[in-house]
Amino acid sequence: MKEPSRFGTVTPEVVEQLSAILGTGGVSVDGEKIAAYSRDEVAERFWDRPYRAEVLVFPESTGHAESTGHVSEILRLANERRIPVTPRGAGTGLSGGAVPAFGGILVSFERMNRILELDTENLCMTVEPGVITAEITRAARKAGLLYAGDPCSGDASFIGGNVAENAGGNKVIKYGPTGSSVLALEVVLADGSVTWFGGKRRKDVTGYDFVHLMVGSEGTLGIITKIVLKLLPLPAFGVDLLIPFPTVEAAIRFVPRIALEGRVTPASIELVDHHSLSQAEKFLNTQLPFDQAAAHLIVQLEGNDREVVADETERVGKLALEKGALEVFVADNRSSRDKLWKARKSVAEAIMVYYQNYAKEDLVVPTDRVPDLLFAVDALCRKWRMEAANYGHVGDGNIHVNLLMADDRPHWHEDMEQARQELYETVRQLGGTLSGEHGIGLKRKAYLPQFLDAPQLELMRRVKLAFDPNGILNPGKLVFWDKKTEEAGA
Ligand code: MLT
Ligand code: ZN
Repeated sequence: MKEPSRFGTVTPEVVEQLSAILGTGGVSVDGEKIAAYSRDEVAERFWDRPYRAEVLVFPESTGHAESTGHVSEILRLANERRIPVTPRGAGTGLSGGAVPAFGGILVSFERMNRILELDTENLCMTVEPGVITAEITRAARKAGLLYAGDPCSGDASFIGGNVAENAGGNKVIKYGPTGSSVLALEVVLADGSVTWFGGKRRKDVTGYDFVHLMVGSEGTLGIITKIVLKLLPLPAFGVDLLIPFPTVEAAIRFVPRIALEGRVTPASIELVDHHSLSQAEKFLNTQLPFDQAAAHLIVQLEGNDREVVADETERVGKLALEKGALEVFVADNRSSRDKLWKARKSVAEAIMVYYQNYAKEDLVVPTDRVPDLLFAVDALCRKWRMEAANYGHVGDGNIHVNLLMADDRPHWHEDMEQARQELYETVRQLGGTLSGEHGIGLKRKAYLPQFLDAPQLELMRRVKLAFDPNGILNPGKLVFWDKKTEEAGA
């Protein structure tokens, strides 16, 4: 027997109340539209059932500084009636974080899309959650400043989603993930009250660090309505080195040498193996040099002194050749750099286009264990008769292992699940973890107990309870609220 739901439903009266808050243009019950917004980049066929919100709302910037009004009133109503609320950015997520697992109200932030302030004196920018990440980068650059967040989906993703998932991307090795750039957050709590965590301050030990508890909490603790981002001086010069290696292992073993022997901290060290590169080349109808090599590294160097950058480039290039690189290509103009990064950033999409049966992973291990991880992936491929495409942020030990099975393979799902379990066990033994930047969301929640022990899971549940006593905020994600009712779909 199905347990009774602990949630209230969206009745016509609730829709009316929402319309009174947002205006009729801010509320939609159109089935097709709701379906389109009830998903992210995880293909719907990977879920056990379609998940649909009951109503979709578009809170707006009101034109003055107080744009929280709508969100605050939505949450007050939802909390009183125990209706689930799922916040949604641009839908570029890779963990089902924005999928409304229990129906209810889906909140799209696409109309809260203003850059509110660029404060050059304090080197920070205040934005609403619906601003596209790349717009922030561009606005900062125009002022000679750097916003260091650089997720691969930055041309489409919203900054609110980046913060909620603590998105990583390509510059983490030097600047850290999104959270490292967050100074302050305006947050609407579950009962509709509004508070600020942090401020335009570079230091703050006045109380718990709620800013960084909110970062990566996947919308389960509160709804972010303003974000203050840290900016840095924009480096004046940059180059990307594309370095092919004859084996994946040689490429990976070179990574720590860059710091140790090269005495350089690159902005990026990315790995693209042969299989990944060939998918991107096919997808873009392009070709990168030495594309038969087993793996390529992309190493980005930057600085304010042309001579210093040139010197570092030479040092890293020479070292790479000493350590077995096949060649070193230096991309130092806009078009060659763009071509290279376009290929790197297209790998994920290309794989999703060319393969039906895949497991898209976001594993992280201590950087010195990356070779062991990839040996284990090779062994798994032989055992399970599958292929793998491995790429990602090797400088952070964060590898997107993509396990690929033939399209016509019967029972591929069961096989993949077992292969994945074996992979996770290896990752755990290597001191690694389940997700470095894509998040837990709906997709990885069942695997959390393999990586976090019981006291920690219980602590997470109690934190959730403190922030959201009725459990209405993005239920079904990240936290085990009550296993029995969750399994019953309530
Ligand atoms: C990437 O690094 O390309 C992104 O995280 C997307 C992905 O790997 O799926
Ligand atoms: Zn990534």
